Amino acid sequence: MLARYGGPEEFAVRELPEPVAGPGQCLVDVTLAGLNFVDLEWRQGEYGPPPLPAVLGVDVVGRRRGDGRRVVALLRRGGGYAEVACAEEAFTVEVPDGLGDEQALALLEQGATALGALELIGRPRPGEVVAVTAAAGGVGHLAVQLARELGAGRVVGLASTAAKREFVRSLGAEVALDPADPDLAERLAEQRIGLFVDSVGGAVLRAGLAALEPFGRLLSVGARADAPEDAFSVDELAGRSAGVLAFWLQHVLADRALFERIAGRLFELALEKRLVAHVDRTAPLARVGAAHRALAARATKGKVLVDVRA
Ligand SMILES: NC(=O)c1ccc[n+]([C@@H]2O[C@H](COP(=O)([O-])OP(=O)(O)OC[C@H]3O[C@@H](n4cnc5c(N)ncnc54)[C@H](OP(=O)(O)O)[C@@H]3O)[C@@H](O)[C@H]2O)c1
Repeated sequence: MLARYGGPEEFAVRELPEPVAGPGQCLVDVTLAGLNFVDLEWRQGEYGPPPLPAVLGVDVVGRRRGDGRRVVALLRRGGGYAEVACAEEAFTVEVPDGLGDEQALALLEQGATALGALELIGRPRPGEVVAVTAAAGGVGHLAVQLARELGAGRVVGLASTAAKREFVRSLGAEVALDPADPDLAERLAEQRIGLFVDSVGGAVLRAGLAALEPFGRLLSVGARADAPEDAFSVDELAGRSAGVLAFWLQHVLADRALFERIAGRLFELALEKRLVAHVDRTAPLARVGAAHRALAARATKGKVLVDVRA
């Protein structure tokens, strides 16, 4: 838990009273919690964090109290880095037999973001070239695989190190680019990008927009807190008949039938091994600060997990 917002050194393991489930909620005996980029922002007191003393963690896998079913729960106000979490039933889904805890957890929050954004808003056209930023990250590495699944042509992934770019190619991307390349917009334009899926913002988003083919779309699923605000003029967009789109997972969660369909599709693809979540590391609870440091230092590939019982 955090007694105050700040750096990773603020985390402390403490005995706290068990949460109490209210109407529409359930308790989950957590086996693994996930790290998400929002955890870094909340830890620093940014982006509407839960009040102090705070338990972070917005996704968990474990057993639901009462029926003992294996579930993944998305926790919109945190509480995941704990042995017991209080979850909204509406944001909880059962894990099918045959799918491991790690895969199920690594797939749901970030996979629903990637699939929801691509399928509901981005809608890759058959054969279209799709670019994905932070393509080795939690959302990105699933978006690379899902873009192919949804009929995209070539996939271009952006990642900051040679090892990450190799990982991105291993996921099925034909081309992997360095977002720090000073000629990024030119490198992207050479790829004839139809859909640019961005979770970084700032200069990378600008390069993506500048490189779009006519009728292309820029699809934002997030931005670093330090990325400058973006403003687009109608003339700039009309200059390439471009669209600017954005996605927020909350709108999927607000529609239970849609959430179930998206979760079901992710789990089905995973059971068929057509979608594989990569787990970078599983940190014991007492080392969650080190795991935060690694995510902030851009040193992780795929999903970072926390073993709350270790
Ligand atoms: N729209 C929604 O509803 C929704 C839901 C969930 C997540 N998101 C967003 O999706 C994005 C990805 O989330 P995630 O949890 O999967 O994280 P993640 O992609 O695993 O985040 C880490 C990656 O971001 C890239 N990055 C670029 N600039 C960075 C910087 N200044 N500091 C740290 N990392 C930087 C790094 O990749 P490189 O080193 O390769 O550049 C890094 O490996 C975030 O923006 C998050 O807010 C949105």
